[in-house]
Amino acid sequence: MQSKILELLRSAGDGYISGEEIATQLGVSRTAVWKHIQELKAAGYDIVSHSRSGYSLREAPDLLLPQEIRNLLRTRLIGREIVHFEDIASTNNEAKRLAIQGAADGTIVVSEAQGAGKGRLSRGWFSPKGKGIWFSVILRPCFLPQDAPKCTLMAAVAIVRAVRKFDIQVGIKWPNDILYEGRKLVGILTEMSAEMERINYVVIGTGINVNLLPEDFPPEVKDIATSLAMIKGEKLPRVKLFAEIITAMEDLYLAAQKEGFAPVLDEWRRYTVTLGQDVNVIGINETFTGRAVDIDADGALLVETAEGCRRVLAGDVSIRPHKKE
Ligand code: BTN
Repeated sequence: MQSKILELLRSAGDGYISGEEIATQLGVSRTAVWKHIQELKAAGYDIVSHSRSGYSLREAPDLLLPQEIRNLLRTRLIGREIVHFEDIASTNNEAKRLAIQGAADGTIVVSEAQGAGKGRLSRGWFSPKGKGIWFSVILRPCFLPQDAPKCTLMAAVAIVRAVRKFDIQVGIKWPNDILYEGRKLVGILTEMSAEMERINYVVIGTGINVNLLPEDFPPEVKDIATSLAMIKGEKLPRVKLFAEIITAMEDLYLAAQKEGFAPVLDEWRRYTVTLGQDVNVIGINETFTGRAVDIDADGALLVETAEGCRRVLAGDVSIRPHKKE
């Protein structure tokens, strides 16, 4: 009902729409309309009420509310269901819980804040209220479990596409960190439940530092992290950026299910800052150095070392600074 009221308020532009008109169009009482308007105001909508003219929407809050995101979305799968929280421990954990209960392909869980955001390799993820986009997408793809890691590369490509629409030239560090001038802007954590030949669900969790300022970051990440607002020198509209990300993700996801991942991998190659660099690889059982030369069809990083070419499927890769001649 609230989304429908917002739609009518928006259709009036800067003008007013009467309570009676809304009530008639939606087939409810004027008192019910008044109650919904009070709830919207409490959620942060700036709505002016005028005894004769009715209601006028002046400003929507910069909250990642489902009705705000849907207002900008034209996707048919990702974002059809959006579950929004003010605060939650981890959107990935909530998405996994919903996936087990049968949530549909493309369901999104988003929170204004996370109390226990999870990062890769058992690290945490700092997720302060209203400053970022902390979200998880539930996917139920038809491809085989061994293809699932490529969903992470796909998410990274989607985010770069969306961020570049705001004229910010970011790059991907293998497999899926998004960096700006060496500092981390976005992290992606993919979790999966599968049987031998079938994926039950994939949860792609993404944390984007949108409007954090230097003083917002805790000391342990202050020197290695950045935000879009710090790069641009101004706040960015989170809802607009989020809608761009979801749109790009859906385009890539639908294409990958039809044609495979080759186009995703090619686009990833165009955006990466890892290839051609000397890297330090911290694998599961070993550490080594070499030059990152390509990714293969599985998304594994190929590293040329003194002992030959090594294939890295998981681990932490850091780019080694260039030696001065
Ligand atoms: C990384 O370590 O680079 C991955 C960070 C992933 C953080 C996101 S924020 C939304 C989602 N929920 C979580 O608990 N983690 C991911």
